[in-house]
Amino acid sequence: MKYTSSVMNSFAFFLLTIFFTISNAFPLSNSMNKRDVFIPPITYPDNTTVWNSGEVHNVTWDISQAPVNITNKIGRIQLRQDDITFPLVLAYDFDILLGSYNITVPLVISGAYQLVLFGDSGNFSPEFTINGV
Ligand SMILES: *[C@@H]1O[C@H](CO)[C@@H](O)[C@H](O)[C@H]1NC(C)=O
Ligand SMILES: *[C@@H]1O[C@H](CO)[C@@H](O)[C@H](O)[C@H]1NC(C)=O
Ligand SMILES: *[C@@H]1O[C@H](CO)[C@@H](O)[C@H](O)[C@H]1NC(C)=O
Ligand SMILES: *[C@@H]1O[C@H](CO)[C@@H](O)[C@H](O)[C@H]1NC(C)=O
Repeated sequence: MKYTSSVMNSFAFFLLTIFFTISNAFPLSNSMNKRDVFIPPITYPDNTTVWNSGEVHNVTWDISQAPVNITNKIGRIQLRQDDITFPLVLAYDFDILLGSYNITVPLVISGAYQLVLFGDSGNFSPEFTINGV
């Protein structure tokens, strides 16, 4: 009996140790008074989107998880293909907390593209289709 309960205690201690190790590795809250990195996921275009060059479309991203203090709230949207982000800027100098922004689809070779939304850091849309030339 005594033996069993001491085994149980060691096991409980072991679990607690794991819990604290994990919670230190992944802190639940960021420290106060610190600016937070915000990388909002792009929700439109998605992987079913087809755009034609010259059209105006409303790029949309999810701002529901935005922290109070954002490191860089100035947004920029660029185009990307095959892991290369082009030095072609589709929109810039807008507030990332808007959650959406109109862009004009550039004239490109038809194919699969992604958008990159920059704020603190780049965030890629899924691949979608642009019909150009
Ligand atoms: C946000 O920044 C302001 C001014 O620096 C500060 O007073 C406030 O406590 C910060 N809030 C959070 C949640 O970090
Ligand atoms: C498109 O995205 C949806 C939702 O994220 C996913 O379920 C689906 O498998 C994706 N389709 C393709 C072709 O990647
Ligand atoms: C954004 O584009 C839509 C058409 O896709 C248009 O109706 C709307 O007026 C545009 N808004 C701005 C602010 O340019
Ligand atoms: C873009 O789409 C969002 C979400 O659907 C909408 O709230 C917003 O008014 C649209 N903006 C423009 C400029 O069309």
